[in-house]
Amino acid sequence: MPNVSRPLRLGINVDHVATIRNARGGDFPDPVRAAVAAQKAGADGITAHLREDRRHISDGDIDRLMRDLTLPLNLEMAATDEMLAIALRHGPHAACIVPEKREERTTEGGLDAVGGHDRLKPLATKLRERGVRVSLFIEPDPVQLDAAKSIGAPVVELHTGSYCLLNGAARDAELERIRTAARHAASIGLECHAGHGLTFDNVGPIAEIPEIVELNIGHFLIGEAIFGGLDSAIRRMRALMDKARAASAGERSA
Ligand code: PXP
Repeated sequence: MPNVSRPLRLGINVDHVATIRNARGGDFPDPVRAAVAAQKAGADGITAHLREDRRHISDGDIDRLMRDLTLPLNLEMAATDEMLAIALRHGPHAACIVPEKREERTTEGGLDAVGGHDRLKPLATKLRERGVRVSLFIEPDPVQLDAAKSIGAPVVELHTGSYCLLNGAARDAELERIRTAARHAASIGLECHAGHGLTFDNVGPIAEIPEIVELNIGHFLIGEAIFGGLDSAIRRMRALMDKARAASAGERSA
C-alpha cells in the first residue's frame, strides 16, 4: 500500500541503474534490486521511465517492477500509442506523462499541456479509467497548470530542472515561480509533485514548499551511491527533505 502518512513523499527514479547495466549489456546492476533497496531505505515510491528508444529501463524491467515491488510504481512515459498500450496492460499506480525527444540526454523541458491538450485528454481519460493516477510533467507555469486541470490529470509534477541549473537571483526567481505554481496547483485542486536535477544541496527550498507532496529524484542519488551506497544516499536525502519540511512548517505556525 502507498505510504500516505508522510507529509512529503520521496519517489526514487531507478533509470540510471539501468543506464550503467546497459553500458555493458547483461544483467547487472539490476534496477529492480535498486528499487527493493530504495524501499528498505525509506522510499515511498519507485519511478521508472520506459523511453521509446529503451536506452535505460527495458520492457522486462517494467514486468519485474510490477511483479516484485510492493511500493507504488510511477511509470514515466511519452504520450504515444505504444506507451499507452503498455501502461494500460500493466496498470501501474501512476503514470507521469513526459515530453520525449530522441536526441535529448534527459527530459529537458516540461510537457506542453496547452498545445497538446486535445491529444492528451483522451489518453489521460483512458489511463484514469484503468485506475492509473495520471500526472503531467510541466513547467511551473499557471497556464500549463490550468491546461492540466482541463485535461483531467489529478496530479502535476513541476519541472525543477531550471531551478537546479541556475544561480543567484535567477535561481531565486525560478524558485518563486515554483512556489507560485504550487500554490496555484493546490488552489485548482491538483496534487503537486516536483522533480528533476535535485541534489542534497538544492532540495531544501523545494521541500519547504507546503503544497508539494512528492519529490522524484534519480540521477544524483544513483551517482552518490557509488561513493557511499544507495541506502545511505536515500536516507540522507530523506533526512534533508524532512528537516526542510519541518522547519518551514514551524515557521508557518509561529
Ligand atoms: N521527474 C521526471 C518527470 C523525470 O523525467 C525525471 C528524470 O527522469 C526525474 C523526475 C528525476 O530527475 P533526476 O534524475 O534528475 O533526479
